[in-house]
Amino acid sequence: MASIESSTPRPAIRRVEHARQIEARKIARRSFLRVSAFAGLTLGVGSMLAGFLGFFNLRKPTGFGGVVTVAKARMPAPGDEPVRISEGKFWLSNLVGAQGDVLGVGGTGGLMALYWKCPHLGCTVPWNPSFQGSQVNFPGITGWFRCPCHGSTYSRAGIRVFGPSPRPLDTMLLTVNGDGSLNVNTGRITPGAADNPLRAVAYNA
Ligand code: FES
Repeated sequence: MASIESSTPRPAIRRVEHARQIEARKIARRSFLRVSAFAGLTLGVGSMLAGFLGFFNLRKPTGFGGVVTVAKARMPAPGDEPVRISEGKFWLSNLVGAQGDVLGVGGTGGLMALYWKCPHLGCTVPWNPSFQGSQVNFPGITGWFRCPCHGSTYSRAGIRVFGPSPRPLDTMLLTVNGDGSLNVNTGRITPGAADNPLRAVAYNA
């Protein structure tokens, strides 16, 4: 018995095949459009969610405003010059004994994270390693934080001894990790006060 193909004229077979190909292309196109629409919708919802979380500050902040981790390698040695931690906007002081406790509140040393923003009008306060305490009635002590804007002067523990600033430098919550690094919570700022030196955290890593 002759097959259907052999009994069907060739032009008819080609037309059927052509129609099949057109239909297959249409199906593929519809699938592609469906997938694209879904991907677009997912991206849109994702970016809206990210915007929402960002607006309400629900994402874990990093850098200033969040927790800044300081590696052990960056730690100043006891009594060394304070180290500037730019990503957290603070100075890291490692005090020896009563160092910086110029008001005599009983500081026993340790680490302090001092917010570098001057409590007067907000200028960034640099460390001046050669500034002489004799200029601010504290002879014999070299190295002070000294605000370039109006001259407020602070000890290594952030205690104000001169200038228009209404208080000592503010401090940030600091915890020591098991590996000798530090976590400084730059969102947890305590206004500076005479007890600044008592806020120093022991560091023996
Ligand atoms: S802003 Fe620092 S002393 Fe005025």
